[in-house]
Amino acid sequence: MHEKQSKSVIRVEKVKKVYKTKKLEYLAIRDISMSVGRGEFVSVLGPSGSGKTTLMNLIGTLDRPTHGRIFIDGVDTSELSDRELSILRNRKIGFIFQSYNLVPYLTAFENATLPLMVDGLDSPENLARGKELLAAVGLGEKMGKKPNELSGGEQQRVAIVRALINNPPIILADEPTGNLDSKTSDAVMDVLKKMAKENNTTIVMVTHEEDIAAHSERSVYLRDGLVEREKMVRK
Ligand SMILES: Nc1ncnc2c1ncn2[C@@H]1O[C@H](COP(=O)(O)OP(=O)(O)OP(=O)(O)O)[C@@H](O)[C@H]1O
Ligand SMILES: [Mg+2]
Repeated sequence: MHEKQSKSVIRVEKVKKVYKTKKLEYLAIRDISMSVGRGEFVSVLGPSGSGKTTLMNLIGTLDRPTHGRIFIDGVDTSELSDRELSILRNRKIGFIFQSYNLVPYLTAFENATLPLMVDGLDSPENLARGKELLAAVGLGEKMGKKPNELSGGEQQRVAIVRALINNPPIILADEPTGNLDSKTSDAVMDVLKKMAKENNTTIVMVTHEEDIAAHSERSVYLRDGLVEREKMVRK
């Protein structure tokens, strides 16, 4: 077995998710089991409403499954308190959401490197890495701009760098290239692939586009809250 696949960083075991509102119950995830190995880059595809974001929120421990278990690095997250989960998230997971939540009065560079400040990791080397990453996604000239001076796609790229800046062992990305043209999307994919290869970062990425999924190693297709099929993309 390939060395980096030998240990599951993420294990989803017979997970079900029911959303309950006052009147209705909605079964968003019917029964999903899947594993992602260390350094593996997996994409999740499927029609709108098939449960992709729900699955990402469960893997990211932002929400708890109704049934089943999620293991992160072998730890059964169902046994952790909310406080313990927030510590696990801070240490291990970089999230790229569709909404960027940038701080309006900070520049692109300050937003991108904010997690370094929060964690006291703002060494010259780490700050230089922030500049490198911003340049790698095409924002070399825009580091001093505030969010309201940036386009949607530029803001999205700042949020992507912010998610990567602390080198989290796991990256969860929900449509990270939703607002980007194909050239910029490829640049973002290159950054993610490099992290998987060089740092053994484990990546799960939701996308609608086969072209984007082609950058990953394995595609998982969801339909109606189930895994419909899987496809190996590349070694
Ligand atoms: N908080 C919620 N309460 C009730 N139902 C929800 C909630 N969040 C999602 N759902 C429902 O669960 C189903 C799966 O939603 P989810 O957001 O996971 O889909 P998705 O695959 O990410 O779709 P898209 O491609 O449009 O982002 C949808 O039918 C949605 O209406
Ligand atoms: Mg979604």
